[in-house]
Amino acid sequence: MADKLIIFDTTLRDGEQSPGASMTKDEKIRIAKQLERLKVDVIEAGFAAASPGDFEAIKAIAATIKDSTICSLSRANDRDIARAAEALAAAQRKRIHTFIATSPLHMEKKLRMSPDQVLEQAIQAVRYARNFTDDVEFSPEDGSRSEMDFLCRVIEAVIKEGATTINFADTVGYGVPELYGNMLKTLRERVPNSDKAIWSVHCHNDLGMAVANSLAGVMIGGARQVECTINGLGERAGNTALEEIVMAVRTRKDYFNLELGIDATQIVPASKLVSQITGFAVQPNKAVVGANAFAHASGIHQDGILKARDTYEIMRAEDVGWSANKIVLGKLSGRNAFKQRLEQLGVELESEVEVNAAFARFKDLADKKSEIFDEDILALVSDEEHAHDNEAFHFVSLAQHSETGERPVAKVVFSIEGKEVSCEGHGNGPVDAIVNAIESKTQSGAELLLFSVNAITTGTQSQGEVTMRLSKSGRIVNGVGADPDIVVASAKAYLSALNKLQSKAEKLNPQI
Ligand code: KIV
Ligand code: ZN
Repeated sequence: MADKLIIFDTTLRDGEQSPGASMTKDEKIRIAKQLERLKVDVIEAGFAAASPGDFEAIKAIAATIKDSTICSLSRANDRDIARAAEALAAAQRKRIHTFIATSPLHMEKKLRMSPDQVLEQAIQAVRYARNFTDDVEFSPEDGSRSEMDFLCRVIEAVIKEGATTINFADTVGYGVPELYGNMLKTLRERVPNSDKAIWSVHCHNDLGMAVANSLAGVMIGGARQVECTINGLGERAGNTALEEIVMAVRTRKDYFNLELGIDATQIVPASKLVSQITGFAVQPNKAVVGANAFAHASGIHQDGILKARDTYEIMRAEDVGWSANKIVLGKLSGRNAFKQRLEQLGVELESEVEVNAAFARFKDLADKKSEIFDEDILALVSDEEHAHDNEAFHFVSLAQHSETGERPVAKVVFSIEGKEVSCEGHGNGPVDAIVNAIESKTQSGAELLLFSVNAITTGTQSQGEVTMRLSKSGRIVNGVGADPDIVVASAKAYLSALNKLQSKAEKLNPQI
């Protein structure tokens, strides 16, 4: 029988360490629910000791998710581990993931510890973590730049203490597939109790080899867990992309011969959700989840596809969750049809009141746009989920005027803690005018780091989804707004970002 390959998703932890990708608790819960639909085996929900915001998010995810194991990262010290255990208390299945650097460079320059001290701390950490759960993962950070003899000593010792997963980290993306895979193979051969643990790979993409290194770790090194993120999100150049690992192993089952528990049809919805929440657009030519991943432009290819799909397609778009932009609902659709579609899309609104509010927004949208697609419904629901966050600012209406040779002007009406205010601003362009108008009232002084517009579906009728990334006093947040009018979407996105800057529970951009 084929071995199972465990998919460990770290979008909510390592993914969030990407500058600008920090997420609110509610956003993390939405992503965790989607990861559960995707059937990932382990969700690393955060780093409990990093901030109160991270702690609360892990706690909420642990209480919500039933099917995946929930994991928290912790440094190799009692305080971090106890905090991780506390956040995970409600989880049906929990894992504590503890790590300490083992490379000479990190030990000497960063930790200022001797190898013996590091060894001792790793042992203590795993021993302590085992008081809270039987599922303990240990990572030698910067493992791929560590010395083999020392790695063997540390790993043997932590397995003896009860570590059940050993995660060989290529922290700085230094690995090369053959070397990384062989290093793992050597470790497994030399560590006497290596068969008592599952071996895992964790690769960063600094040299664009994270997926290749991970797969070499699996095939050469015998790893049976891959740590990865949706869209390859992560520190610097990112982590191993989950969608690429899953589809490589599935499509080339003849070579990998491994079983996966993943529901691949949930890949594209997961990719879109993560991109929407973080504001990190997916490049069109990105494997599996890029808009062009299944587009055939050349005549020869189109001709081949029409005759036999497998001439140029090794995977089917629908197998990874690309819907054919089907018109699903329209102006005349009723509440029941809308509710049923939400269920089919895997969206759970918490109460009938929320369903009613989302349905009212759907009717508004159907008045402006005759064809409503699944993507429109998801954007609309996403707005709905933001709306009940006790937010300070709510968009009400706007008028904007631009004319060649004139300075654009915008009048915006929005509410601040329930009280409606009206303001006016000029700017170099319509969006600048809106921001200046809103700032004349809020005076947040935030710096706009990113402004991006995406069409949610195809065609000029499409809703525009605007992301605005703001920074203030070291905090970076993303606001998202959707509307058929991209100027209105921009105002919504700006107010959404201001709401996040206001929320005290959120943390600083979470770098370890
Ligand atoms: O890249 C890394 O080394 C990590 C560890 C904490 C596993 O993310
Ligand atoms: Zn990492």
